[in-house]
Amino acid sequence: MTNYIHINETSKEFHLTNGKLSYIFRVMEQTKILEQLYAGKAIRHQESFAHLIEREIRPSNNQVTGDHTTSLEHIKQEMPVYGTTDFRYPGMEIRYPDGDRISQFEYRSYSVVEGKKRLPNLPATFAGEHEATTLEIYLEDRYSSLVLTLSYTIFHAYSALGRHASIENYGNETFQLERLMSLNLDLPMNDYDFIHLHGAWAREAQLERKPLITGVQSISSTRGASSHVHNPFFALAKKNTDEQQGEVFGFSFVYSGNFLAQVEVDPYHVTRAMLGINPHQFSWELEPGSLFTAPEAVMVYSDAGLNGMSRTFHDLYRQQLISPKWSGRKRPILSNNWEATYFDFNEEKILELARDAKGLGIELFVLDDGWFGNRDNDAGSLGNWTADLKKLPEGIAGLADKVHTLGLQFGLWFEPEMVSADAPIHASHPEWKIGHPGKNISHGRNQYVLDFSRPEVVDNIFDQMDTVLSESAIDYVKWDMNRYISEAFSQALPAAKQGEMMHRYILGVYALYTKILAKYPDLLIESCAGGGARFDAGLLYYAPQTWASDDTDAVERLKIQYGTSMVYPLSSIGSHVSAVPNHQVARMTSLKMRSDVAAFGTFGYELDSTKLSEEEKEIVREQVSQIKRWQTLIHQGDFFRLKSPFEGNTTAWMVVAPDKSEALVGVYHVLAQPNPAYERVSLAGLDEAALYQLDGEATTRFGDDLMQIGLVLGGNYIGRAQEYWSRTMPGDFSSQLYHLQKIDKSEDDG
Ligand code: DGJ
Repeated sequence: MTNYIHINETSKEFHLTNGKLSYIFRVMEQTKILEQLYAGKAIRHQESFAHLIEREIRPSNNQVTGDHTTSLEHIKQEMPVYGTTDFRYPGMEIRYPDGDRISQFEYRSYSVVEGKKRLPNLPATFAGEHEATTLEIYLEDRYSSLVLTLSYTIFHAYSALGRHASIENYGNETFQLERLMSLNLDLPMNDYDFIHLHGAWAREAQLERKPLITGVQSISSTRGASSHVHNPFFALAKKNTDEQQGEVFGFSFVYSGNFLAQVEVDPYHVTRAMLGINPHQFSWELEPGSLFTAPEAVMVYSDAGLNGMSRTFHDLYRQQLISPKWSGRKRPILSNNWEATYFDFNEEKILELARDAKGLGIELFVLDDGWFGNRDNDAGSLGNWTADLKKLPEGIAGLADKVHTLGLQFGLWFEPEMVSADAPIHASHPEWKIGHPGKNISHGRNQYVLDFSRPEVVDNIFDQMDTVLSESAIDYVKWDMNRYISEAFSQALPAAKQGEMMHRYILGVYALYTKILAKYPDLLIESCAGGGARFDAGLLYYAPQTWASDDTDAVERLKIQYGTSMVYPLSSIGSHVSAVPNHQVARMTSLKMRSDVAAFGTFGYELDSTKLSEEEKEIVREQVSQIKRWQTLIHQGDFFRLKSPFEGNTTAWMVVAPDKSEALVGVYHVLAQPNPAYERVSLAGLDEAALYQLDGEATTRFGDDLMQIGLVLGGNYIGRAQEYWSRTMPGDFSSQLYHLQKIDKSEDDG
């Protein structure tokens, strides 16, 4: 028994609680299987939770002879398996040497540790002994010497639970693990909406909300990456839950490969939610003595709406997932040459852009794709990480020095996991690419995927990157990944282990990140996968920021950033100001709108600054200095979504300093309207009794006034009709930032 984990020893009831959430389960007397009793808002501990055991006698198959209440089909469980009378999809499935899949994992013992153990070779949230408490439950298979460990970490300060599962083979036989979900939660009701983020290249994180249907609904990836198509996140929200109020469970997977997030509603209105590695394309040989650990899944409970859920994810991931080196540290404002030049550059052009960047107040210059091999287009050279001396006569080292001399940091693009047909390593090791040598191996963007399930491949790419990083002064790396895996086969694995390839691939990616960061601990890495195809909590562990999308259009970005913010903190959302007409949608938006949107992320520019007029450069200088002033507020503050771009013409969001002393609000109108309706935006998160002053305005308003009534967006032209008729209309795609500062005098001061 600790302050966070209460155990009723006789009845074997476990209650994890931190005053915000409660999570209760027990060991069933006869079957020794774990029964889920409650998950949700914190309730006080009781000596017995037996009243939460629900049983009906129904026509079904019963485990225990003569007992008609032992049908697992009708019992909520922690880790359901096949062969125990439960017909719903299981959380775990094992193939035995006989070919059968019948298991029964029975409770043996538990242990409690303060803090949280690291997961072997996997990213995960971390916590010291005063930050979290972990309960491990050990279950043994009735039919083998397999031991399953279910691990539950309750964070002391956050309404969040970290869960994972691992299985160890203590016997002499080999088993095949066909499925091991990291999290299973059986909820007693079905009155939830399923919320998730779907998308495609250049339009990631589109928010969708639909009522649950009876039956199975799921989102997933089979592509070898978490993918543009579905983010490894979903939420179950009560019908009346909105951004500001109501109950919701959020589930996020700390993993970057194939995943399955599935919700099954049965005829009795029980909702089974599960999250883990996608069983499709997965199978793991459990040899004698071996241990398999499934990645971590995080569950957040909020009774303060979707914003409450997101703020918990943001806080948790900033404090307990992103490297402490970066979580509280200022991020450099960057200029990236991709949309400025694409592949068409030389050293002179890059230095011209860098000089400009310096003059604009920018802090980091990033050289994107095209600096290596013979890469004048996307047809080749990946896997050949040597500088193209035609473009860069003094190599990366020479360029990095010159950029540093200008007073800027220097960043470089890599796509480490890929190989082109013309790369020397492809000629010497064609077997290093993923695919079956006797079958078709598809290209994507003219490239192949290196088999990162092979440690020697990871080592080769590490050596190549190490050469560049050790010879040159490099402060930042953009780590890209531009195609999915369509023919999963490793020439290094025996037939029985081919089902391991997709997971071993991601472990190889994590191993390379680990090796690079071990040698270059000060390196800032921004992950990227053709934009946001690997925007997931797994990569945030290594790379504190992610390029959210290849779509840099300010209007499209409203949706992408709004959706992404459901889970991921603003300090992780790579957002840049690009040129107009926009390269993805040809839209013309103002420099102001582009910057006002990008401000709510990790800020940068991605345009040819030499084409900006002097007047535009002056605007950029002002934007850069504004972001420098506000960056801590934006990255460390509490974020609130106020108006959704998925629901109307106006989008609004804001950040509030943790001590509520200041706030920044962004309001965006997509289309201009003649003779518009009156409009107000109610703010959130302020100190009710404090007076706030809006920058540039003499009047002050109380926090409760701003939150209850809101910003009054229409003009006030009383007695100034002439001025009204002669004003300049903002036109389509307009935006406004409002900076609020708490002033000393408050109502309480009298
Ligand atoms: C895809 C990325 O998302 C872009 O930002 C850019 O780096 C290109 N790849 C380069 O090929």
